[in-house]
Amino acid sequence: MHFDLNRQDMHSHLLPGLDDGAKDMNDSISLIRQLHALGYTKLITTPHIMSGIWYNDADTILPALDALRAEVEKEGINVELDAAAEYLMDDYFESLLDDKTPLLTINGKYVLVEFPFIALPVNYRSVFFNMKMAGYEPILAHPERYMYQHGQLDFYHELQEAGVLLQVNILSLHGYYGTRVQKMALQLVNAGLVQFTGTDAHHQRHLDVLCRPLPDASVLTKLGEAVIKNELL
Ligand SMILES: [Fe+2]
Repeated sequence: MHFDLNRQDMHSHLLPGLDDGAKDMNDSISLIRQLHALGYTKLITTPHIMSGIWYNDADTILPALDALRAEVEKEGINVELDAAAEYLMDDYFESLLDDKTPLLTINGKYVLVEFPFIALPVNYRSVFFNMKMAGYEPILAHPERYMYQHGQLDFYHELQEAGVLLQVNILSLHGYYGTRVQKMALQLVNAGLVQFTGTDAHHQRHLDVLCRPLPDASVLTKLGEAVIKNELL
Protein backbone atom coordinates (compact mmCIF):
# COMPACT_ATOMS: atom_id res chain seq x y z
CA MET A 1 0.00 0.00 0.00
CA HIS A 2 1.23 3.42 -0.97
CA PHE A 3 0.99 6.08 1.70
CA ASP A 4 -0.43 9.48 0.76
CA LEU A 5 1.75 11.99 2.61
CA ASN A 6 -0.31 15.01 1.72
CA ARG A 7 -3.65 14.70 3.51
CA GLN A 8 -3.57 15.50 7.23
CA ASP A 9 -0.68 17.44 8.69
CA MET A 10 -0.05 17.72 12.43
CA HIS A 11 3.18 19.73 12.63
CA SER A 12 3.70 23.22 11.20
CA HIS A 13 4.24 26.85 12.09
CA LEU A 14 1.50 28.64 10.20
CA LEU A 15 -0.04 31.03 12.74
CA PRO A 16 0.98 34.60 11.89
CA GLY A 17 3.76 36.14 13.98
CA LEU A 18 3.78 33.64 16.86
CA ASP A 19 7.17 32.02 16.31
CA ASP A 20 9.81 31.55 13.61
CA GLY A 21 7.12 30.39 11.14
CA ALA A 22 4.66 32.52 9.17
CA LYS A 23 5.54 36.19 9.60
CA ASP A 24 2.14 37.75 9.07
CA MET A 25 -1.36 36.94 7.83
CA ASN A 26 -0.37 37.21 4.15
CA ASP A 27 2.46 34.79 4.74
CA SER A 28 0.13 32.35 6.55
CA ILE A 29 -2.41 32.44 3.75
CA SER A 30 0.23 31.95 1.07
CA LEU A 31 1.67 28.87 2.83
CA ILE A 32 -1.79 27.40 3.49
CA ARG A 33 -2.86 27.96 -0.10
CA GLN A 34 0.18 25.99 -1.30
CA LEU A 35 -0.35 23.18 1.22
CA HIS A 36 -3.97 22.93 0.10
CA ALA A 37 -2.81 22.75 -3.52
CA LEU A 38 -0.57 19.83 -2.53
CA GLY A 39 -3.67 17.98 -1.33
CA TYR A 40 -3.87 18.77 2.38
CA THR A 41 -7.43 18.89 3.74
CA LYS A 42 -6.54 19.27 7.41
CA LEU A 43 -3.72 21.25 8.99
CA ILE A 44 -3.10 21.09 12.72
CA THR A 45 -0.55 23.80 13.24
CA THR A 46 1.84 23.74 16.20
CA PRO A 47 3.55 26.99 17.29
CA HIS A 48 6.72 26.68 19.36
CA ILE A 49 6.48 26.92 23.13
CA MET A 50 10.05 27.46 24.28
CA SER A 51 10.85 29.34 27.48
CA GLY A 52 13.08 32.38 26.92
CA ILE A 53 12.42 32.34 23.16
CA TRP A 54 8.76 31.80 22.25
CA TYR A 55 6.31 32.43 25.08
CA ASN A 56 3.18 30.96 23.61
CA ASP A 57 0.19 29.48 25.37
CA ALA A 58 -3.55 29.10 24.81
CA ASP A 59 -3.94 32.89 25.18
CA THR A 60 -1.70 33.63 22.18
CA ILE A 61 -2.45 30.54 20.08
CA LEU A 62 -6.25 30.28 20.19
CA PRO A 63 -7.02 33.90 19.19
CA ALA A 64 -4.46 33.61 16.36
CA LEU A 65 -6.18 30.41 15.23
CA ASP A 66 -9.57 32.14 15.20
CA ALA A 67 -8.18 35.03 13.15
CA LEU A 68 -6.50 32.69 10.67
CA ARG A 69 -9.61 30.53 10.31
CA ALA A 70 -11.65 33.64 9.47
CA GLU A 71 -9.09 34.69 6.86
CA VAL A 72 -8.89 31.20 5.33
CA GLU A 73 -12.66 31.18 5.02
CA LYS A 74 -12.69 34.68 3.52
CA GLU A 75 -10.10 33.54 0.96
CA GLY A 76 -12.24 30.50 0.12
CA ILE A 77 -9.51 27.93 0.87
CA ASN A 78 -11.24 24.65 1.66
CA VAL A 79 -8.99 23.36 4.43
CA GLU A 80 -9.76 22.46 8.02
CA LEU A 81 -7.53 24.32 10.43
CA ASP A 82 -6.70 23.47 14.02
CA ALA A 83 -3.91 24.30 16.44
CA ALA A 84 -1.94 22.64 19.22
CA ALA A 85 1.71 23.38 20.06
CA GLU A 86 5.25 22.07 19.76
CA TYR A 87 6.61 22.04 23.32
CA LEU A 88 10.33 22.05 23.92
CA MET A 89 11.16 19.58 26.70
CA ASP A 90 12.66 22.18 29.07
CA ASP A 91 12.19 23.26 32.70
CA TYR A 92 9.22 25.36 31.71
CA PHE A 93 7.47 22.35 30.14
CA GLU A 94 8.10 20.37 33.33
CA SER A 95 6.62 23.18 35.37
CA LEU A 96 3.47 23.07 33.22
CA LEU A 97 3.19 19.34 33.95
CA ASP A 98 3.90 19.85 37.67
CA ASP A 99 1.26 22.57 37.88
CA LYS A 100 -1.21 20.42 35.92
CA THR A 101 -1.70 23.24 33.41
CA PRO A 102 -3.86 21.85 30.59
CA LEU A 103 -1.60 21.31 27.56
CA LEU A 104 -2.56 22.14 23.99
CA THR A 105 -3.34 18.80 22.38
CA ILE A 106 -3.82 17.31 18.96
CA ASN A 107 -7.24 15.60 18.93
CA GLY A 108 -7.63 15.96 22.67
CA LYS A 109 -4.84 13.58 23.70
CA TYR A 110 -1.63 13.81 21.66
CA VAL A 111 1.03 16.30 22.79
CA LEU A 112 3.85 17.18 20.40
CA VAL A 113 7.16 17.63 22.18
CA GLU A 114 10.67 18.19 20.90
CA PHE A 115 14.10 17.60 22.46
CA PRO A 116 16.74 20.34 22.42
CA PHE A 117 19.11 20.01 19.43
CA ILE A 118 22.19 20.21 21.71
CA ALA A 119 21.71 17.26 24.05
CA LEU A 120 19.20 14.73 25.31
CA PRO A 121 17.30 16.02 28.37
CA VAL A 122 18.66 14.02 31.33
CA ASN A 123 15.21 13.37 32.78
CA TYR A 124 13.36 12.60 29.53
CA ARG A 125 12.09 9.28 30.92
CA SER A 126 10.32 10.85 33.87
CA VAL A 127 8.91 13.67 31.72
CA PHE A 128 7.35 11.19 29.29
CA PHE A 129 6.12 9.13 32.24
CA ASN A 130 4.51 12.20 33.83
CA MET A 131 2.85 13.07 30.53
CA LYS A 132 1.36 9.58 30.32
CA MET A 133 0.24 9.73 33.96
CA ALA A 134 -1.55 13.00 33.18
CA GLY A 135 -3.45 11.23 30.39
CA TYR A 136 -1.52 12.55 27.39
CA GLU A 137 -0.06 10.58 24.48
CA PRO A 138 3.40 12.04 23.81
CA ILE A 139 4.58 12.43 20.22
CA LEU A 140 8.29 13.15 19.81
CA ALA A 141 8.82 15.60 16.93
CA HIS A 142 11.45 14.79 14.28
CA PRO A 143 13.52 12.10 16.09
CA GLU A 144 15.78 11.97 13.02
CA ARG A 145 17.02 15.52 13.67
CA TYR A 146 18.72 14.84 17.04
CA MET A 147 22.28 14.20 15.88
CA TYR A 148 23.33 12.99 19.33
CA GLN A 149 20.99 9.98 18.94
CA HIS A 150 21.92 9.13 15.36
CA GLY A 151 22.35 5.44 14.70
CA GLN A 152 20.75 4.60 18.03
CA LEU A 153 17.63 2.77 16.97
CA ASP A 154 17.56 0.93 20.32
CA PHE A 155 16.92 4.24 22.03
CA TYR A 156 13.86 4.81 19.84
CA HIS A 157 12.65 1.23 20.31
CA GLU A 158 12.80 1.88 24.06
CA LEU A 159 10.82 5.09 23.68
CA GLN A 160 8.13 3.23 21.74
CA GLU A 161 7.92 0.62 24.45
CA ALA A 162 7.44 3.45 26.93
CA GLY A 163 4.47 4.67 24.86
CA VAL A 164 6.12 7.54 22.99
CA LEU A 165 4.98 7.98 19.37
CA LEU A 166 7.42 9.26 16.76
CA GLN A 167 6.85 11.87 14.02
CA VAL A 168 9.22 12.14 11.08
CA ASN A 169 9.51 15.36 9.06
CA ILE A 170 8.70 14.96 5.37
CA LEU A 171 11.46 17.51 4.76
CA SER A 172 13.94 15.02 6.25
CA LEU A 173 12.88 12.40 3.69
CA HIS A 174 13.64 15.01 1.01
CA GLY A 175 17.16 15.51 2.39
CA TYR A 176 16.43 19.13 3.31
CA TYR A 177 18.43 18.94 6.58
CA GLY A 178 21.31 16.98 5.05
CA THR A 179 22.12 13.38 4.29
CA ARG A 180 22.72 12.24 7.89
CA VAL A 181 19.26 13.35 8.95
CA GLN A 182 17.77 11.83 5.80
CA LYS A 183 19.48 8.51 6.51
CA MET A 184 18.23 8.44 10.10
CA ALA A 185 14.69 9.26 8.94
CA LEU A 186 14.79 6.32 6.53
CA GLN A 187 16.18 4.02 9.23
CA LEU A 188 13.33 4.96 11.54
CA VAL A 189 10.72 4.40 8.82
CA ASN A 190 12.26 1.09 7.77
CA ALA A 191 12.35 -0.08 11.39
CA GLY A 192 8.60 0.58 11.64
CA LEU A 193 9.16 3.17 14.35
CA VAL A 194 7.22 6.05 12.77
CA GLN A 195 3.56 6.77 13.60
CA PHE A 196 3.19 10.30 12.23
CA THR A 197 4.55 12.38 9.38
CA GLY A 198 4.66 16.17 9.48
CA THR A 199 5.62 19.00 7.18
CA ASP A 200 7.12 21.18 9.97
CA ALA A 201 6.51 23.95 7.41
CA HIS A 202 7.78 27.35 8.55
CA HIS A 203 8.33 29.35 5.36
CA GLN A 204 8.48 29.40 1.57
CA ARG A 205 11.79 27.51 1.31
CA HIS A 206 10.10 24.58 3.03
CA LEU A 207 7.14 24.72 0.64
CA ASP A 208 9.49 24.79 -2.35
CA VAL A 209 10.91 21.44 -1.18
CA LEU A 210 7.58 19.90 -0.14
CA CYS A 211 6.25 20.51 -3.67
CA ARG A 212 8.94 18.26 -5.18
CA PRO A 213 8.61 14.50 -5.56
CA LEU A 214 10.49 12.53 -2.90
CA PRO A 215 13.99 11.46 -4.00
CA ASP A 216 13.14 7.85 -3.11
CA ALA A 217 9.43 7.07 -3.40
CA SER A 218 9.90 3.55 -2.00
CA VAL A 219 9.71 5.13 1.46
CA LEU A 220 6.00 5.66 0.76
CA THR A 221 5.52 1.91 0.51
CA LYS A 222 7.29 1.49 3.85
CA LEU A 223 5.09 4.18 5.37
CA GLY A 224 2.07 2.41 3.91
CA GLU A 225 3.08 -0.76 5.77
CA ALA A 226 3.56 1.14 9.02
CA VAL A 227 0.69 2.28 11.18
CA ILE A 228 0.63 5.92 10.28
CA LYS A 229 -1.90 7.73 12.39
CA ASN A 230 -2.25 11.00 10.46
CA GLU A 231 -5.42 9.65 8.84
CA LEU A 232 -7.08 9.42 12.23
CA LEU A 233 -6.67 13.15 12.85
FE1 LIG B 1 8.41 22.36 14.39
